[in-house]
Amino acid sequence: MQIEYEDHGEGLPLVLLHAFPLSCRMWEPEKKALARENVRLILPDLRGFGETKSTADTNTMDEMAGDVADLLDRLKIEKAIIGGLSMGGYVTFALYRLDPGRFSGLILCDTTCAADTDEKRENRFKLIKKIEENGPQALIENMLPVLVGKYTKENNPELYADLEQRFAGTDPQEAIGALRGMAARIDSCDLLSEIDVPTLFIFGEEDTLTDADMGRKMHSRVTGSEFCLITNAGHYSNLEQPEQFDQAIISFIRRQ
Ligand code: MLT
Repeated sequence: MQIEYEDHGEGLPLVLLHAFPLSCRMWEPEKKALARENVRLILPDLRGFGETKSTADTNTMDEMAGDVADLLDRLKIEKAIIGGLSMGGYVTFALYRLDPGRFSGLILCDTTCAADTDEKRENRFKLIKKIEENGPQALIENMLPVLVGKYTKENNPELYADLEQRFAGTDPQEAIGALRGMAARIDSCDLLSEIDVPTLFIFGEEDTLTDADMGRKMHSRVTGSEFCLITNAGHYSNLEQPEQFDQAIISFIRRQ
């Protein structure tokens, strides 16, 4: 599938893959922060999100990864630093499995290499049922409160309200397609010991979905990797604490 994307700046190619159920708009802070760096920032809308429409029953992480590889072919980009947050991280792992030679670096944020446990999968199917009954309101009620950190809830109600709006704009079928895709993804933890490019892990300290301990475990299995903990942030660490997040990315790319 030919996916939509944004392309900003010139220099070292950096691809960032968004989380569920957001779009490349989630990288607004990074667009601003990286504008003065020597970076070409490529921000795809994964299938079923933003401007890339898809009403398929299931959209797998492998299909999304294939779309990103095709996009890089179209743009004639042989190698890039590729990273993603949460679902974007699942897609990054799938792309690494598909085409490791494509990576000049890796950035994994608030994500996990592990497949869903049976319990998580069950919960996804329950959420799908609720979306079928109540539309995106089911995501606002059942998912958003778990994702956003305590600090943000107490100190940044504007961001919480903005996320509620973004969740409300989600197409139910597109959300369901991705939830099924996430439930079906395979475990990628075997890849960690094979990664041989500079790698940065970034985790919000209040992330309860993909917690920092998981991040530290993955970091300990990737030779030479770096780990950055974002304080006062939950799962959407780049939106909750953009300054800390962007500083981590900038200091990583300046060293490449
Ligand atoms: C995301 O933030 O991309 C998703 O919540 C990840 C997930 O549900 O596993």
